[in-house]
Amino acid sequence: MPIFAESVDSLALVQDSSASWARQGARMPAVAYCESPSVPADEFVRWFLDVSQPKAARRTIGPVARCATQPIAPVAFNLPDRKSLASTIERWTASEPKLAGWIEAGVPPTQALSRFGSSLIRANHIQKGLEVFHAVTALNPEDPLHWSNFGVALDLAGALNESAACLERSLIISRAQPDTWLQLGNVRKKLSDSTRAEKAYKAALEFDANAPLAWQCLGLLKEEQSDFPAAIDCYTACIERGGGGAAIHSNVGKLCYRIGRFADAHQNFAKSLEQDPSNVRVRTNEQKLRFIRSMVERNDAQEAFASLNQYLPGDFPISESDQRTIVETAFGVLAGFGYTSEALSVGHLSMSLWPNQPSLEYLMGALAGGKGPDRSPREYIVEHFDRFADQFDSQLVGALGYDIPKKLCDVVKKALGNASLGDVLDAGCGTGLCGPELRPIARKLTGVDLSSRMLEQAEKRGGYDELVCDDLLSFLGRSPRRFDLIVAADLVIYFGELSSLLTSAAYAMRPGGLLAFSTESFLGDTFRLLPSGRFAHPPHYVERAARPEFALVSCAPTTVRLEGTERVSGNLFIFRRL
Ligand SMILES: C[S@@+](CC[C@H](N)C(=O)[O-])C[C@H]1O[C@@H](n2cnc3c(N)ncnc32)[C@H](O)[C@@H]1O
Repeated sequence: MPIFAESVDSLALVQDSSASWARQGARMPAVAYCESPSVPADEFVRWFLDVSQPKAARRTIGPVARCATQPIAPVAFNLPDRKSLASTIERWTASEPKLAGWIEAGVPPTQALSRFGSSLIRANHIQKGLEVFHAVTALNPEDPLHWSNFGVALDLAGALNESAACLERSLIISRAQPDTWLQLGNVRKKLSDSTRAEKAYKAALEFDANAPLAWQCLGLLKEEQSDFPAAIDCYTACIERGGGGAAIHSNVGKLCYRIGRFADAHQNFAKSLEQDPSNVRVRTNEQKLRFIRSMVERNDAQEAFASLNQYLPGDFPISESDQRTIVETAFGVLAGFGYTSEALSVGHLSMSLWPNQPSLEYLMGALAGGKGPDRSPREYIVEHFDRFADQFDSQLVGALGYDIPKKLCDVVKKALGNASLGDVLDAGCGTGLCGPELRPIARKLTGVDLSSRMLEQAEKRGGYDELVCDDLLSFLGRSPRRFDLIVAADLVIYFGELSSLLTSAAYAMRPGGLLAFSTESFLGDTFRLLPSGRFAHPPHYVERAARPEFALVSCAPTTVRLEGTERVSGNLFIFRRL
């Protein structure tokens, strides 16, 4: 059977017999069509579906539509023959006055059916719409538009593999269809095939570089891939071509802010506000970025603060609590992006306006350099994490790629092997991200944390037998020989000098128990207080501090999270209590 198989991405034509082509197939055919008119269409389509779908999908999905919002009956991809089609169309014409009217008025049957199919889809009668587009495609399989419509209907029905196959078929017949490429990109994205989704979006832009929607979709894909500079470029291209509006400006502002392009961020929030002056969130962002931008460009905190009271049209006076939030946020953001002297100026401004801020004093000390205290003050921990608790998971896990709980617990499970369950402490448990990892290996799981708001989140997540609001050192001091395993994810960074922490941990552990924790890296002799207000430790310092009571099991380098656009590197330690 001579077969032409074609990849719509490259449009490279391959000619071979089906069997040897499929055998070659390190690469699955994206689309294929049969050269020989003697091969029955059904047989060809069955072959095509068989080789064109990933093995797993073949087993689980096959050429059957999956359900989306409403149950969809199985849809055979193979096209019905004209004879059976004639009676179906007769039936529809008899029962659907709208369709009958179009045919009577002289609209050609395929066009009338196509209109009918579209009206059904618009009215959310997806199953019937699918049947109609199936029929229209069978009536005229050379028309790419019908394959595109059929593909769209299949997408709406949730039959994504089949939808992609139809859209690809359409594009084989005619490549110059930007909308179909765009649709194919969206379907591939839903199929989590982002590489080929990107190719489809780019093909759409090849045929219509001025299509704002294609730029927007490509931008969305880039944003999901965390390629923020590329996402910003795509969204900007969308805006330049008349797409978007206030929301897209605000989104570009948000991405620019995230990667420290403060002037661009401010400009975009200001444009968004111009278009939608009643949007309170955008107004707050515009004010915040106005302040930060002014600091970066002129480093004059008084002037930047005064700029907060220059209202934009439609604006109203900014409250003192909003002013304070902006100043506090700006301090953290400027420090995080390495604008040390600007952050310190903002810190001094804040202290002059709102005196008695021990946490800010601590952070300014950290930023200014110097040895700093031996550990982060309790008031700072409580204030910082109580305030952060609601956004902790979305910020740290979502935006900053924090996955130390999983990585640390994986190392622990490896070290434990088949050891039996024991009493486990999640030290500095926070919102309880380690809970689900530790629950299966714990007879009794206890969490301790200084921040009551973080503990509320851990309680909601569940899985702990006991949650205690206390300072870790006090808690350990009250728990002699109680634990077989202590896990501390991202906790040791709040201690500089480690011997008192490690001695307390040793006191609370049973001999042979494991102590697992993460640290942030630092190349020096001893610990260092970083501008972030967290401590970093060189591995040899940690090992030295643990030595009298613990034996090192393993120390593995890791990435802790992102800081601005930089990766923060650290280590995962496991010690055994001697
Ligand atoms: C960065 S969070 C990590 C939370 C959790 N372990 C995780 O990995 O998601 C650090 C947690 O340690 C807590 N913490 C810091 N110092 C503490 C101390 N001395 N005693 C108890 N909890 C402390 C903080 O309140 C915060 O919840």
